[in-house]
Amino acid sequence: MKLWEHNTTLRGGKSTLRPMTEGDWDILLRWNRDPEVLYFTDIDVVAPRELPDVQEMYRGVSRNAFCFIIEVGGEPVGECWLQKMNLERVLREYPGKDCRRIDLMIGEKGLWGKGIGTDVISTLTRFGFENEKADFVFGCDIADYNPRSLRVFQKNGYRIEAEMVQPPGNKAGIIYDLVLSKDEYYRRERRA
Ligand SMILES: CC(C)(COP(=O)(O)OP(=O)(O)OC[C@H]1O[C@@H](n2cnc3c(N)ncnc32)[C@H](O)[C@@H]1OP(=O)(O)O)[C@@H](O)C(=O)NCCC(=O)NCCS
Repeated sequence: MKLWEHNTTLRGGKSTLRPMTEGDWDILLRWNRDPEVLYFTDIDVVAPRELPDVQEMYRGVSRNAFCFIIEVGGEPVGECWLQKMNLERVLREYPGKDCRRIDLMIGEKGLWGKGIGTDVISTLTRFGFENEKADFVFGCDIADYNPRSLRVFQKNGYRIEAEMVQPPGNKAGIIYDLVLSKDEYYRRERRA
């Protein structure tokens, strides 16, 4: 099973999102082998990934998602996706609604904290509501030790919907789901 390669390119203020392809394994592997990046992307403790695991992960997600490579100045710096909601705990709260989730990773650590994540979420959120006609877009499994991630969703109008206290000994004390509704999105757009 190969990666599902769409043909959508999205332009934000600071970054461009272009389709992820089967030609991207080298950069995706590099980012997925960096312990510092993995510390923030995964709420569980994970070991640096091998190529088959990386391929399986992105190919699997791509069945139900638009997967993108984030580019800044023409160079790949990370990955992100807009995926159909896959968490039962969310779906049962929103029966019959079109729910999506955004996940992202800036793999080039030197670029953290420069506004790129905020820009990527803004671009994917717009795509989700305006093109895909989603009812709700979520950011899921955001750990308390990752305030940057929490902040970039909140800066885009997302609010905390669920706080899940984790058992003692887990990496995170609390994980959060954040949500933005279609109505809230368009209200923000009108104000802007
Ligand atoms: C999380 C991530 C996507 C954020 O993107 P980014 O480009 O680094 O973030 P931005 O520069 O757009 O915004 C960061 C915000 O967090 C704030 N911030 C940074 N460190 C913080 C801290 N320790 N506490 C609170 N806020 C903090 C910044 O001040 C900024 O907010 P501001 O613009 O209001 O000042 C990026 O850092 C990343 O990919 N990290 C590794 C992988 C990851 O964590 N993925 C998400 C998994 S849920």
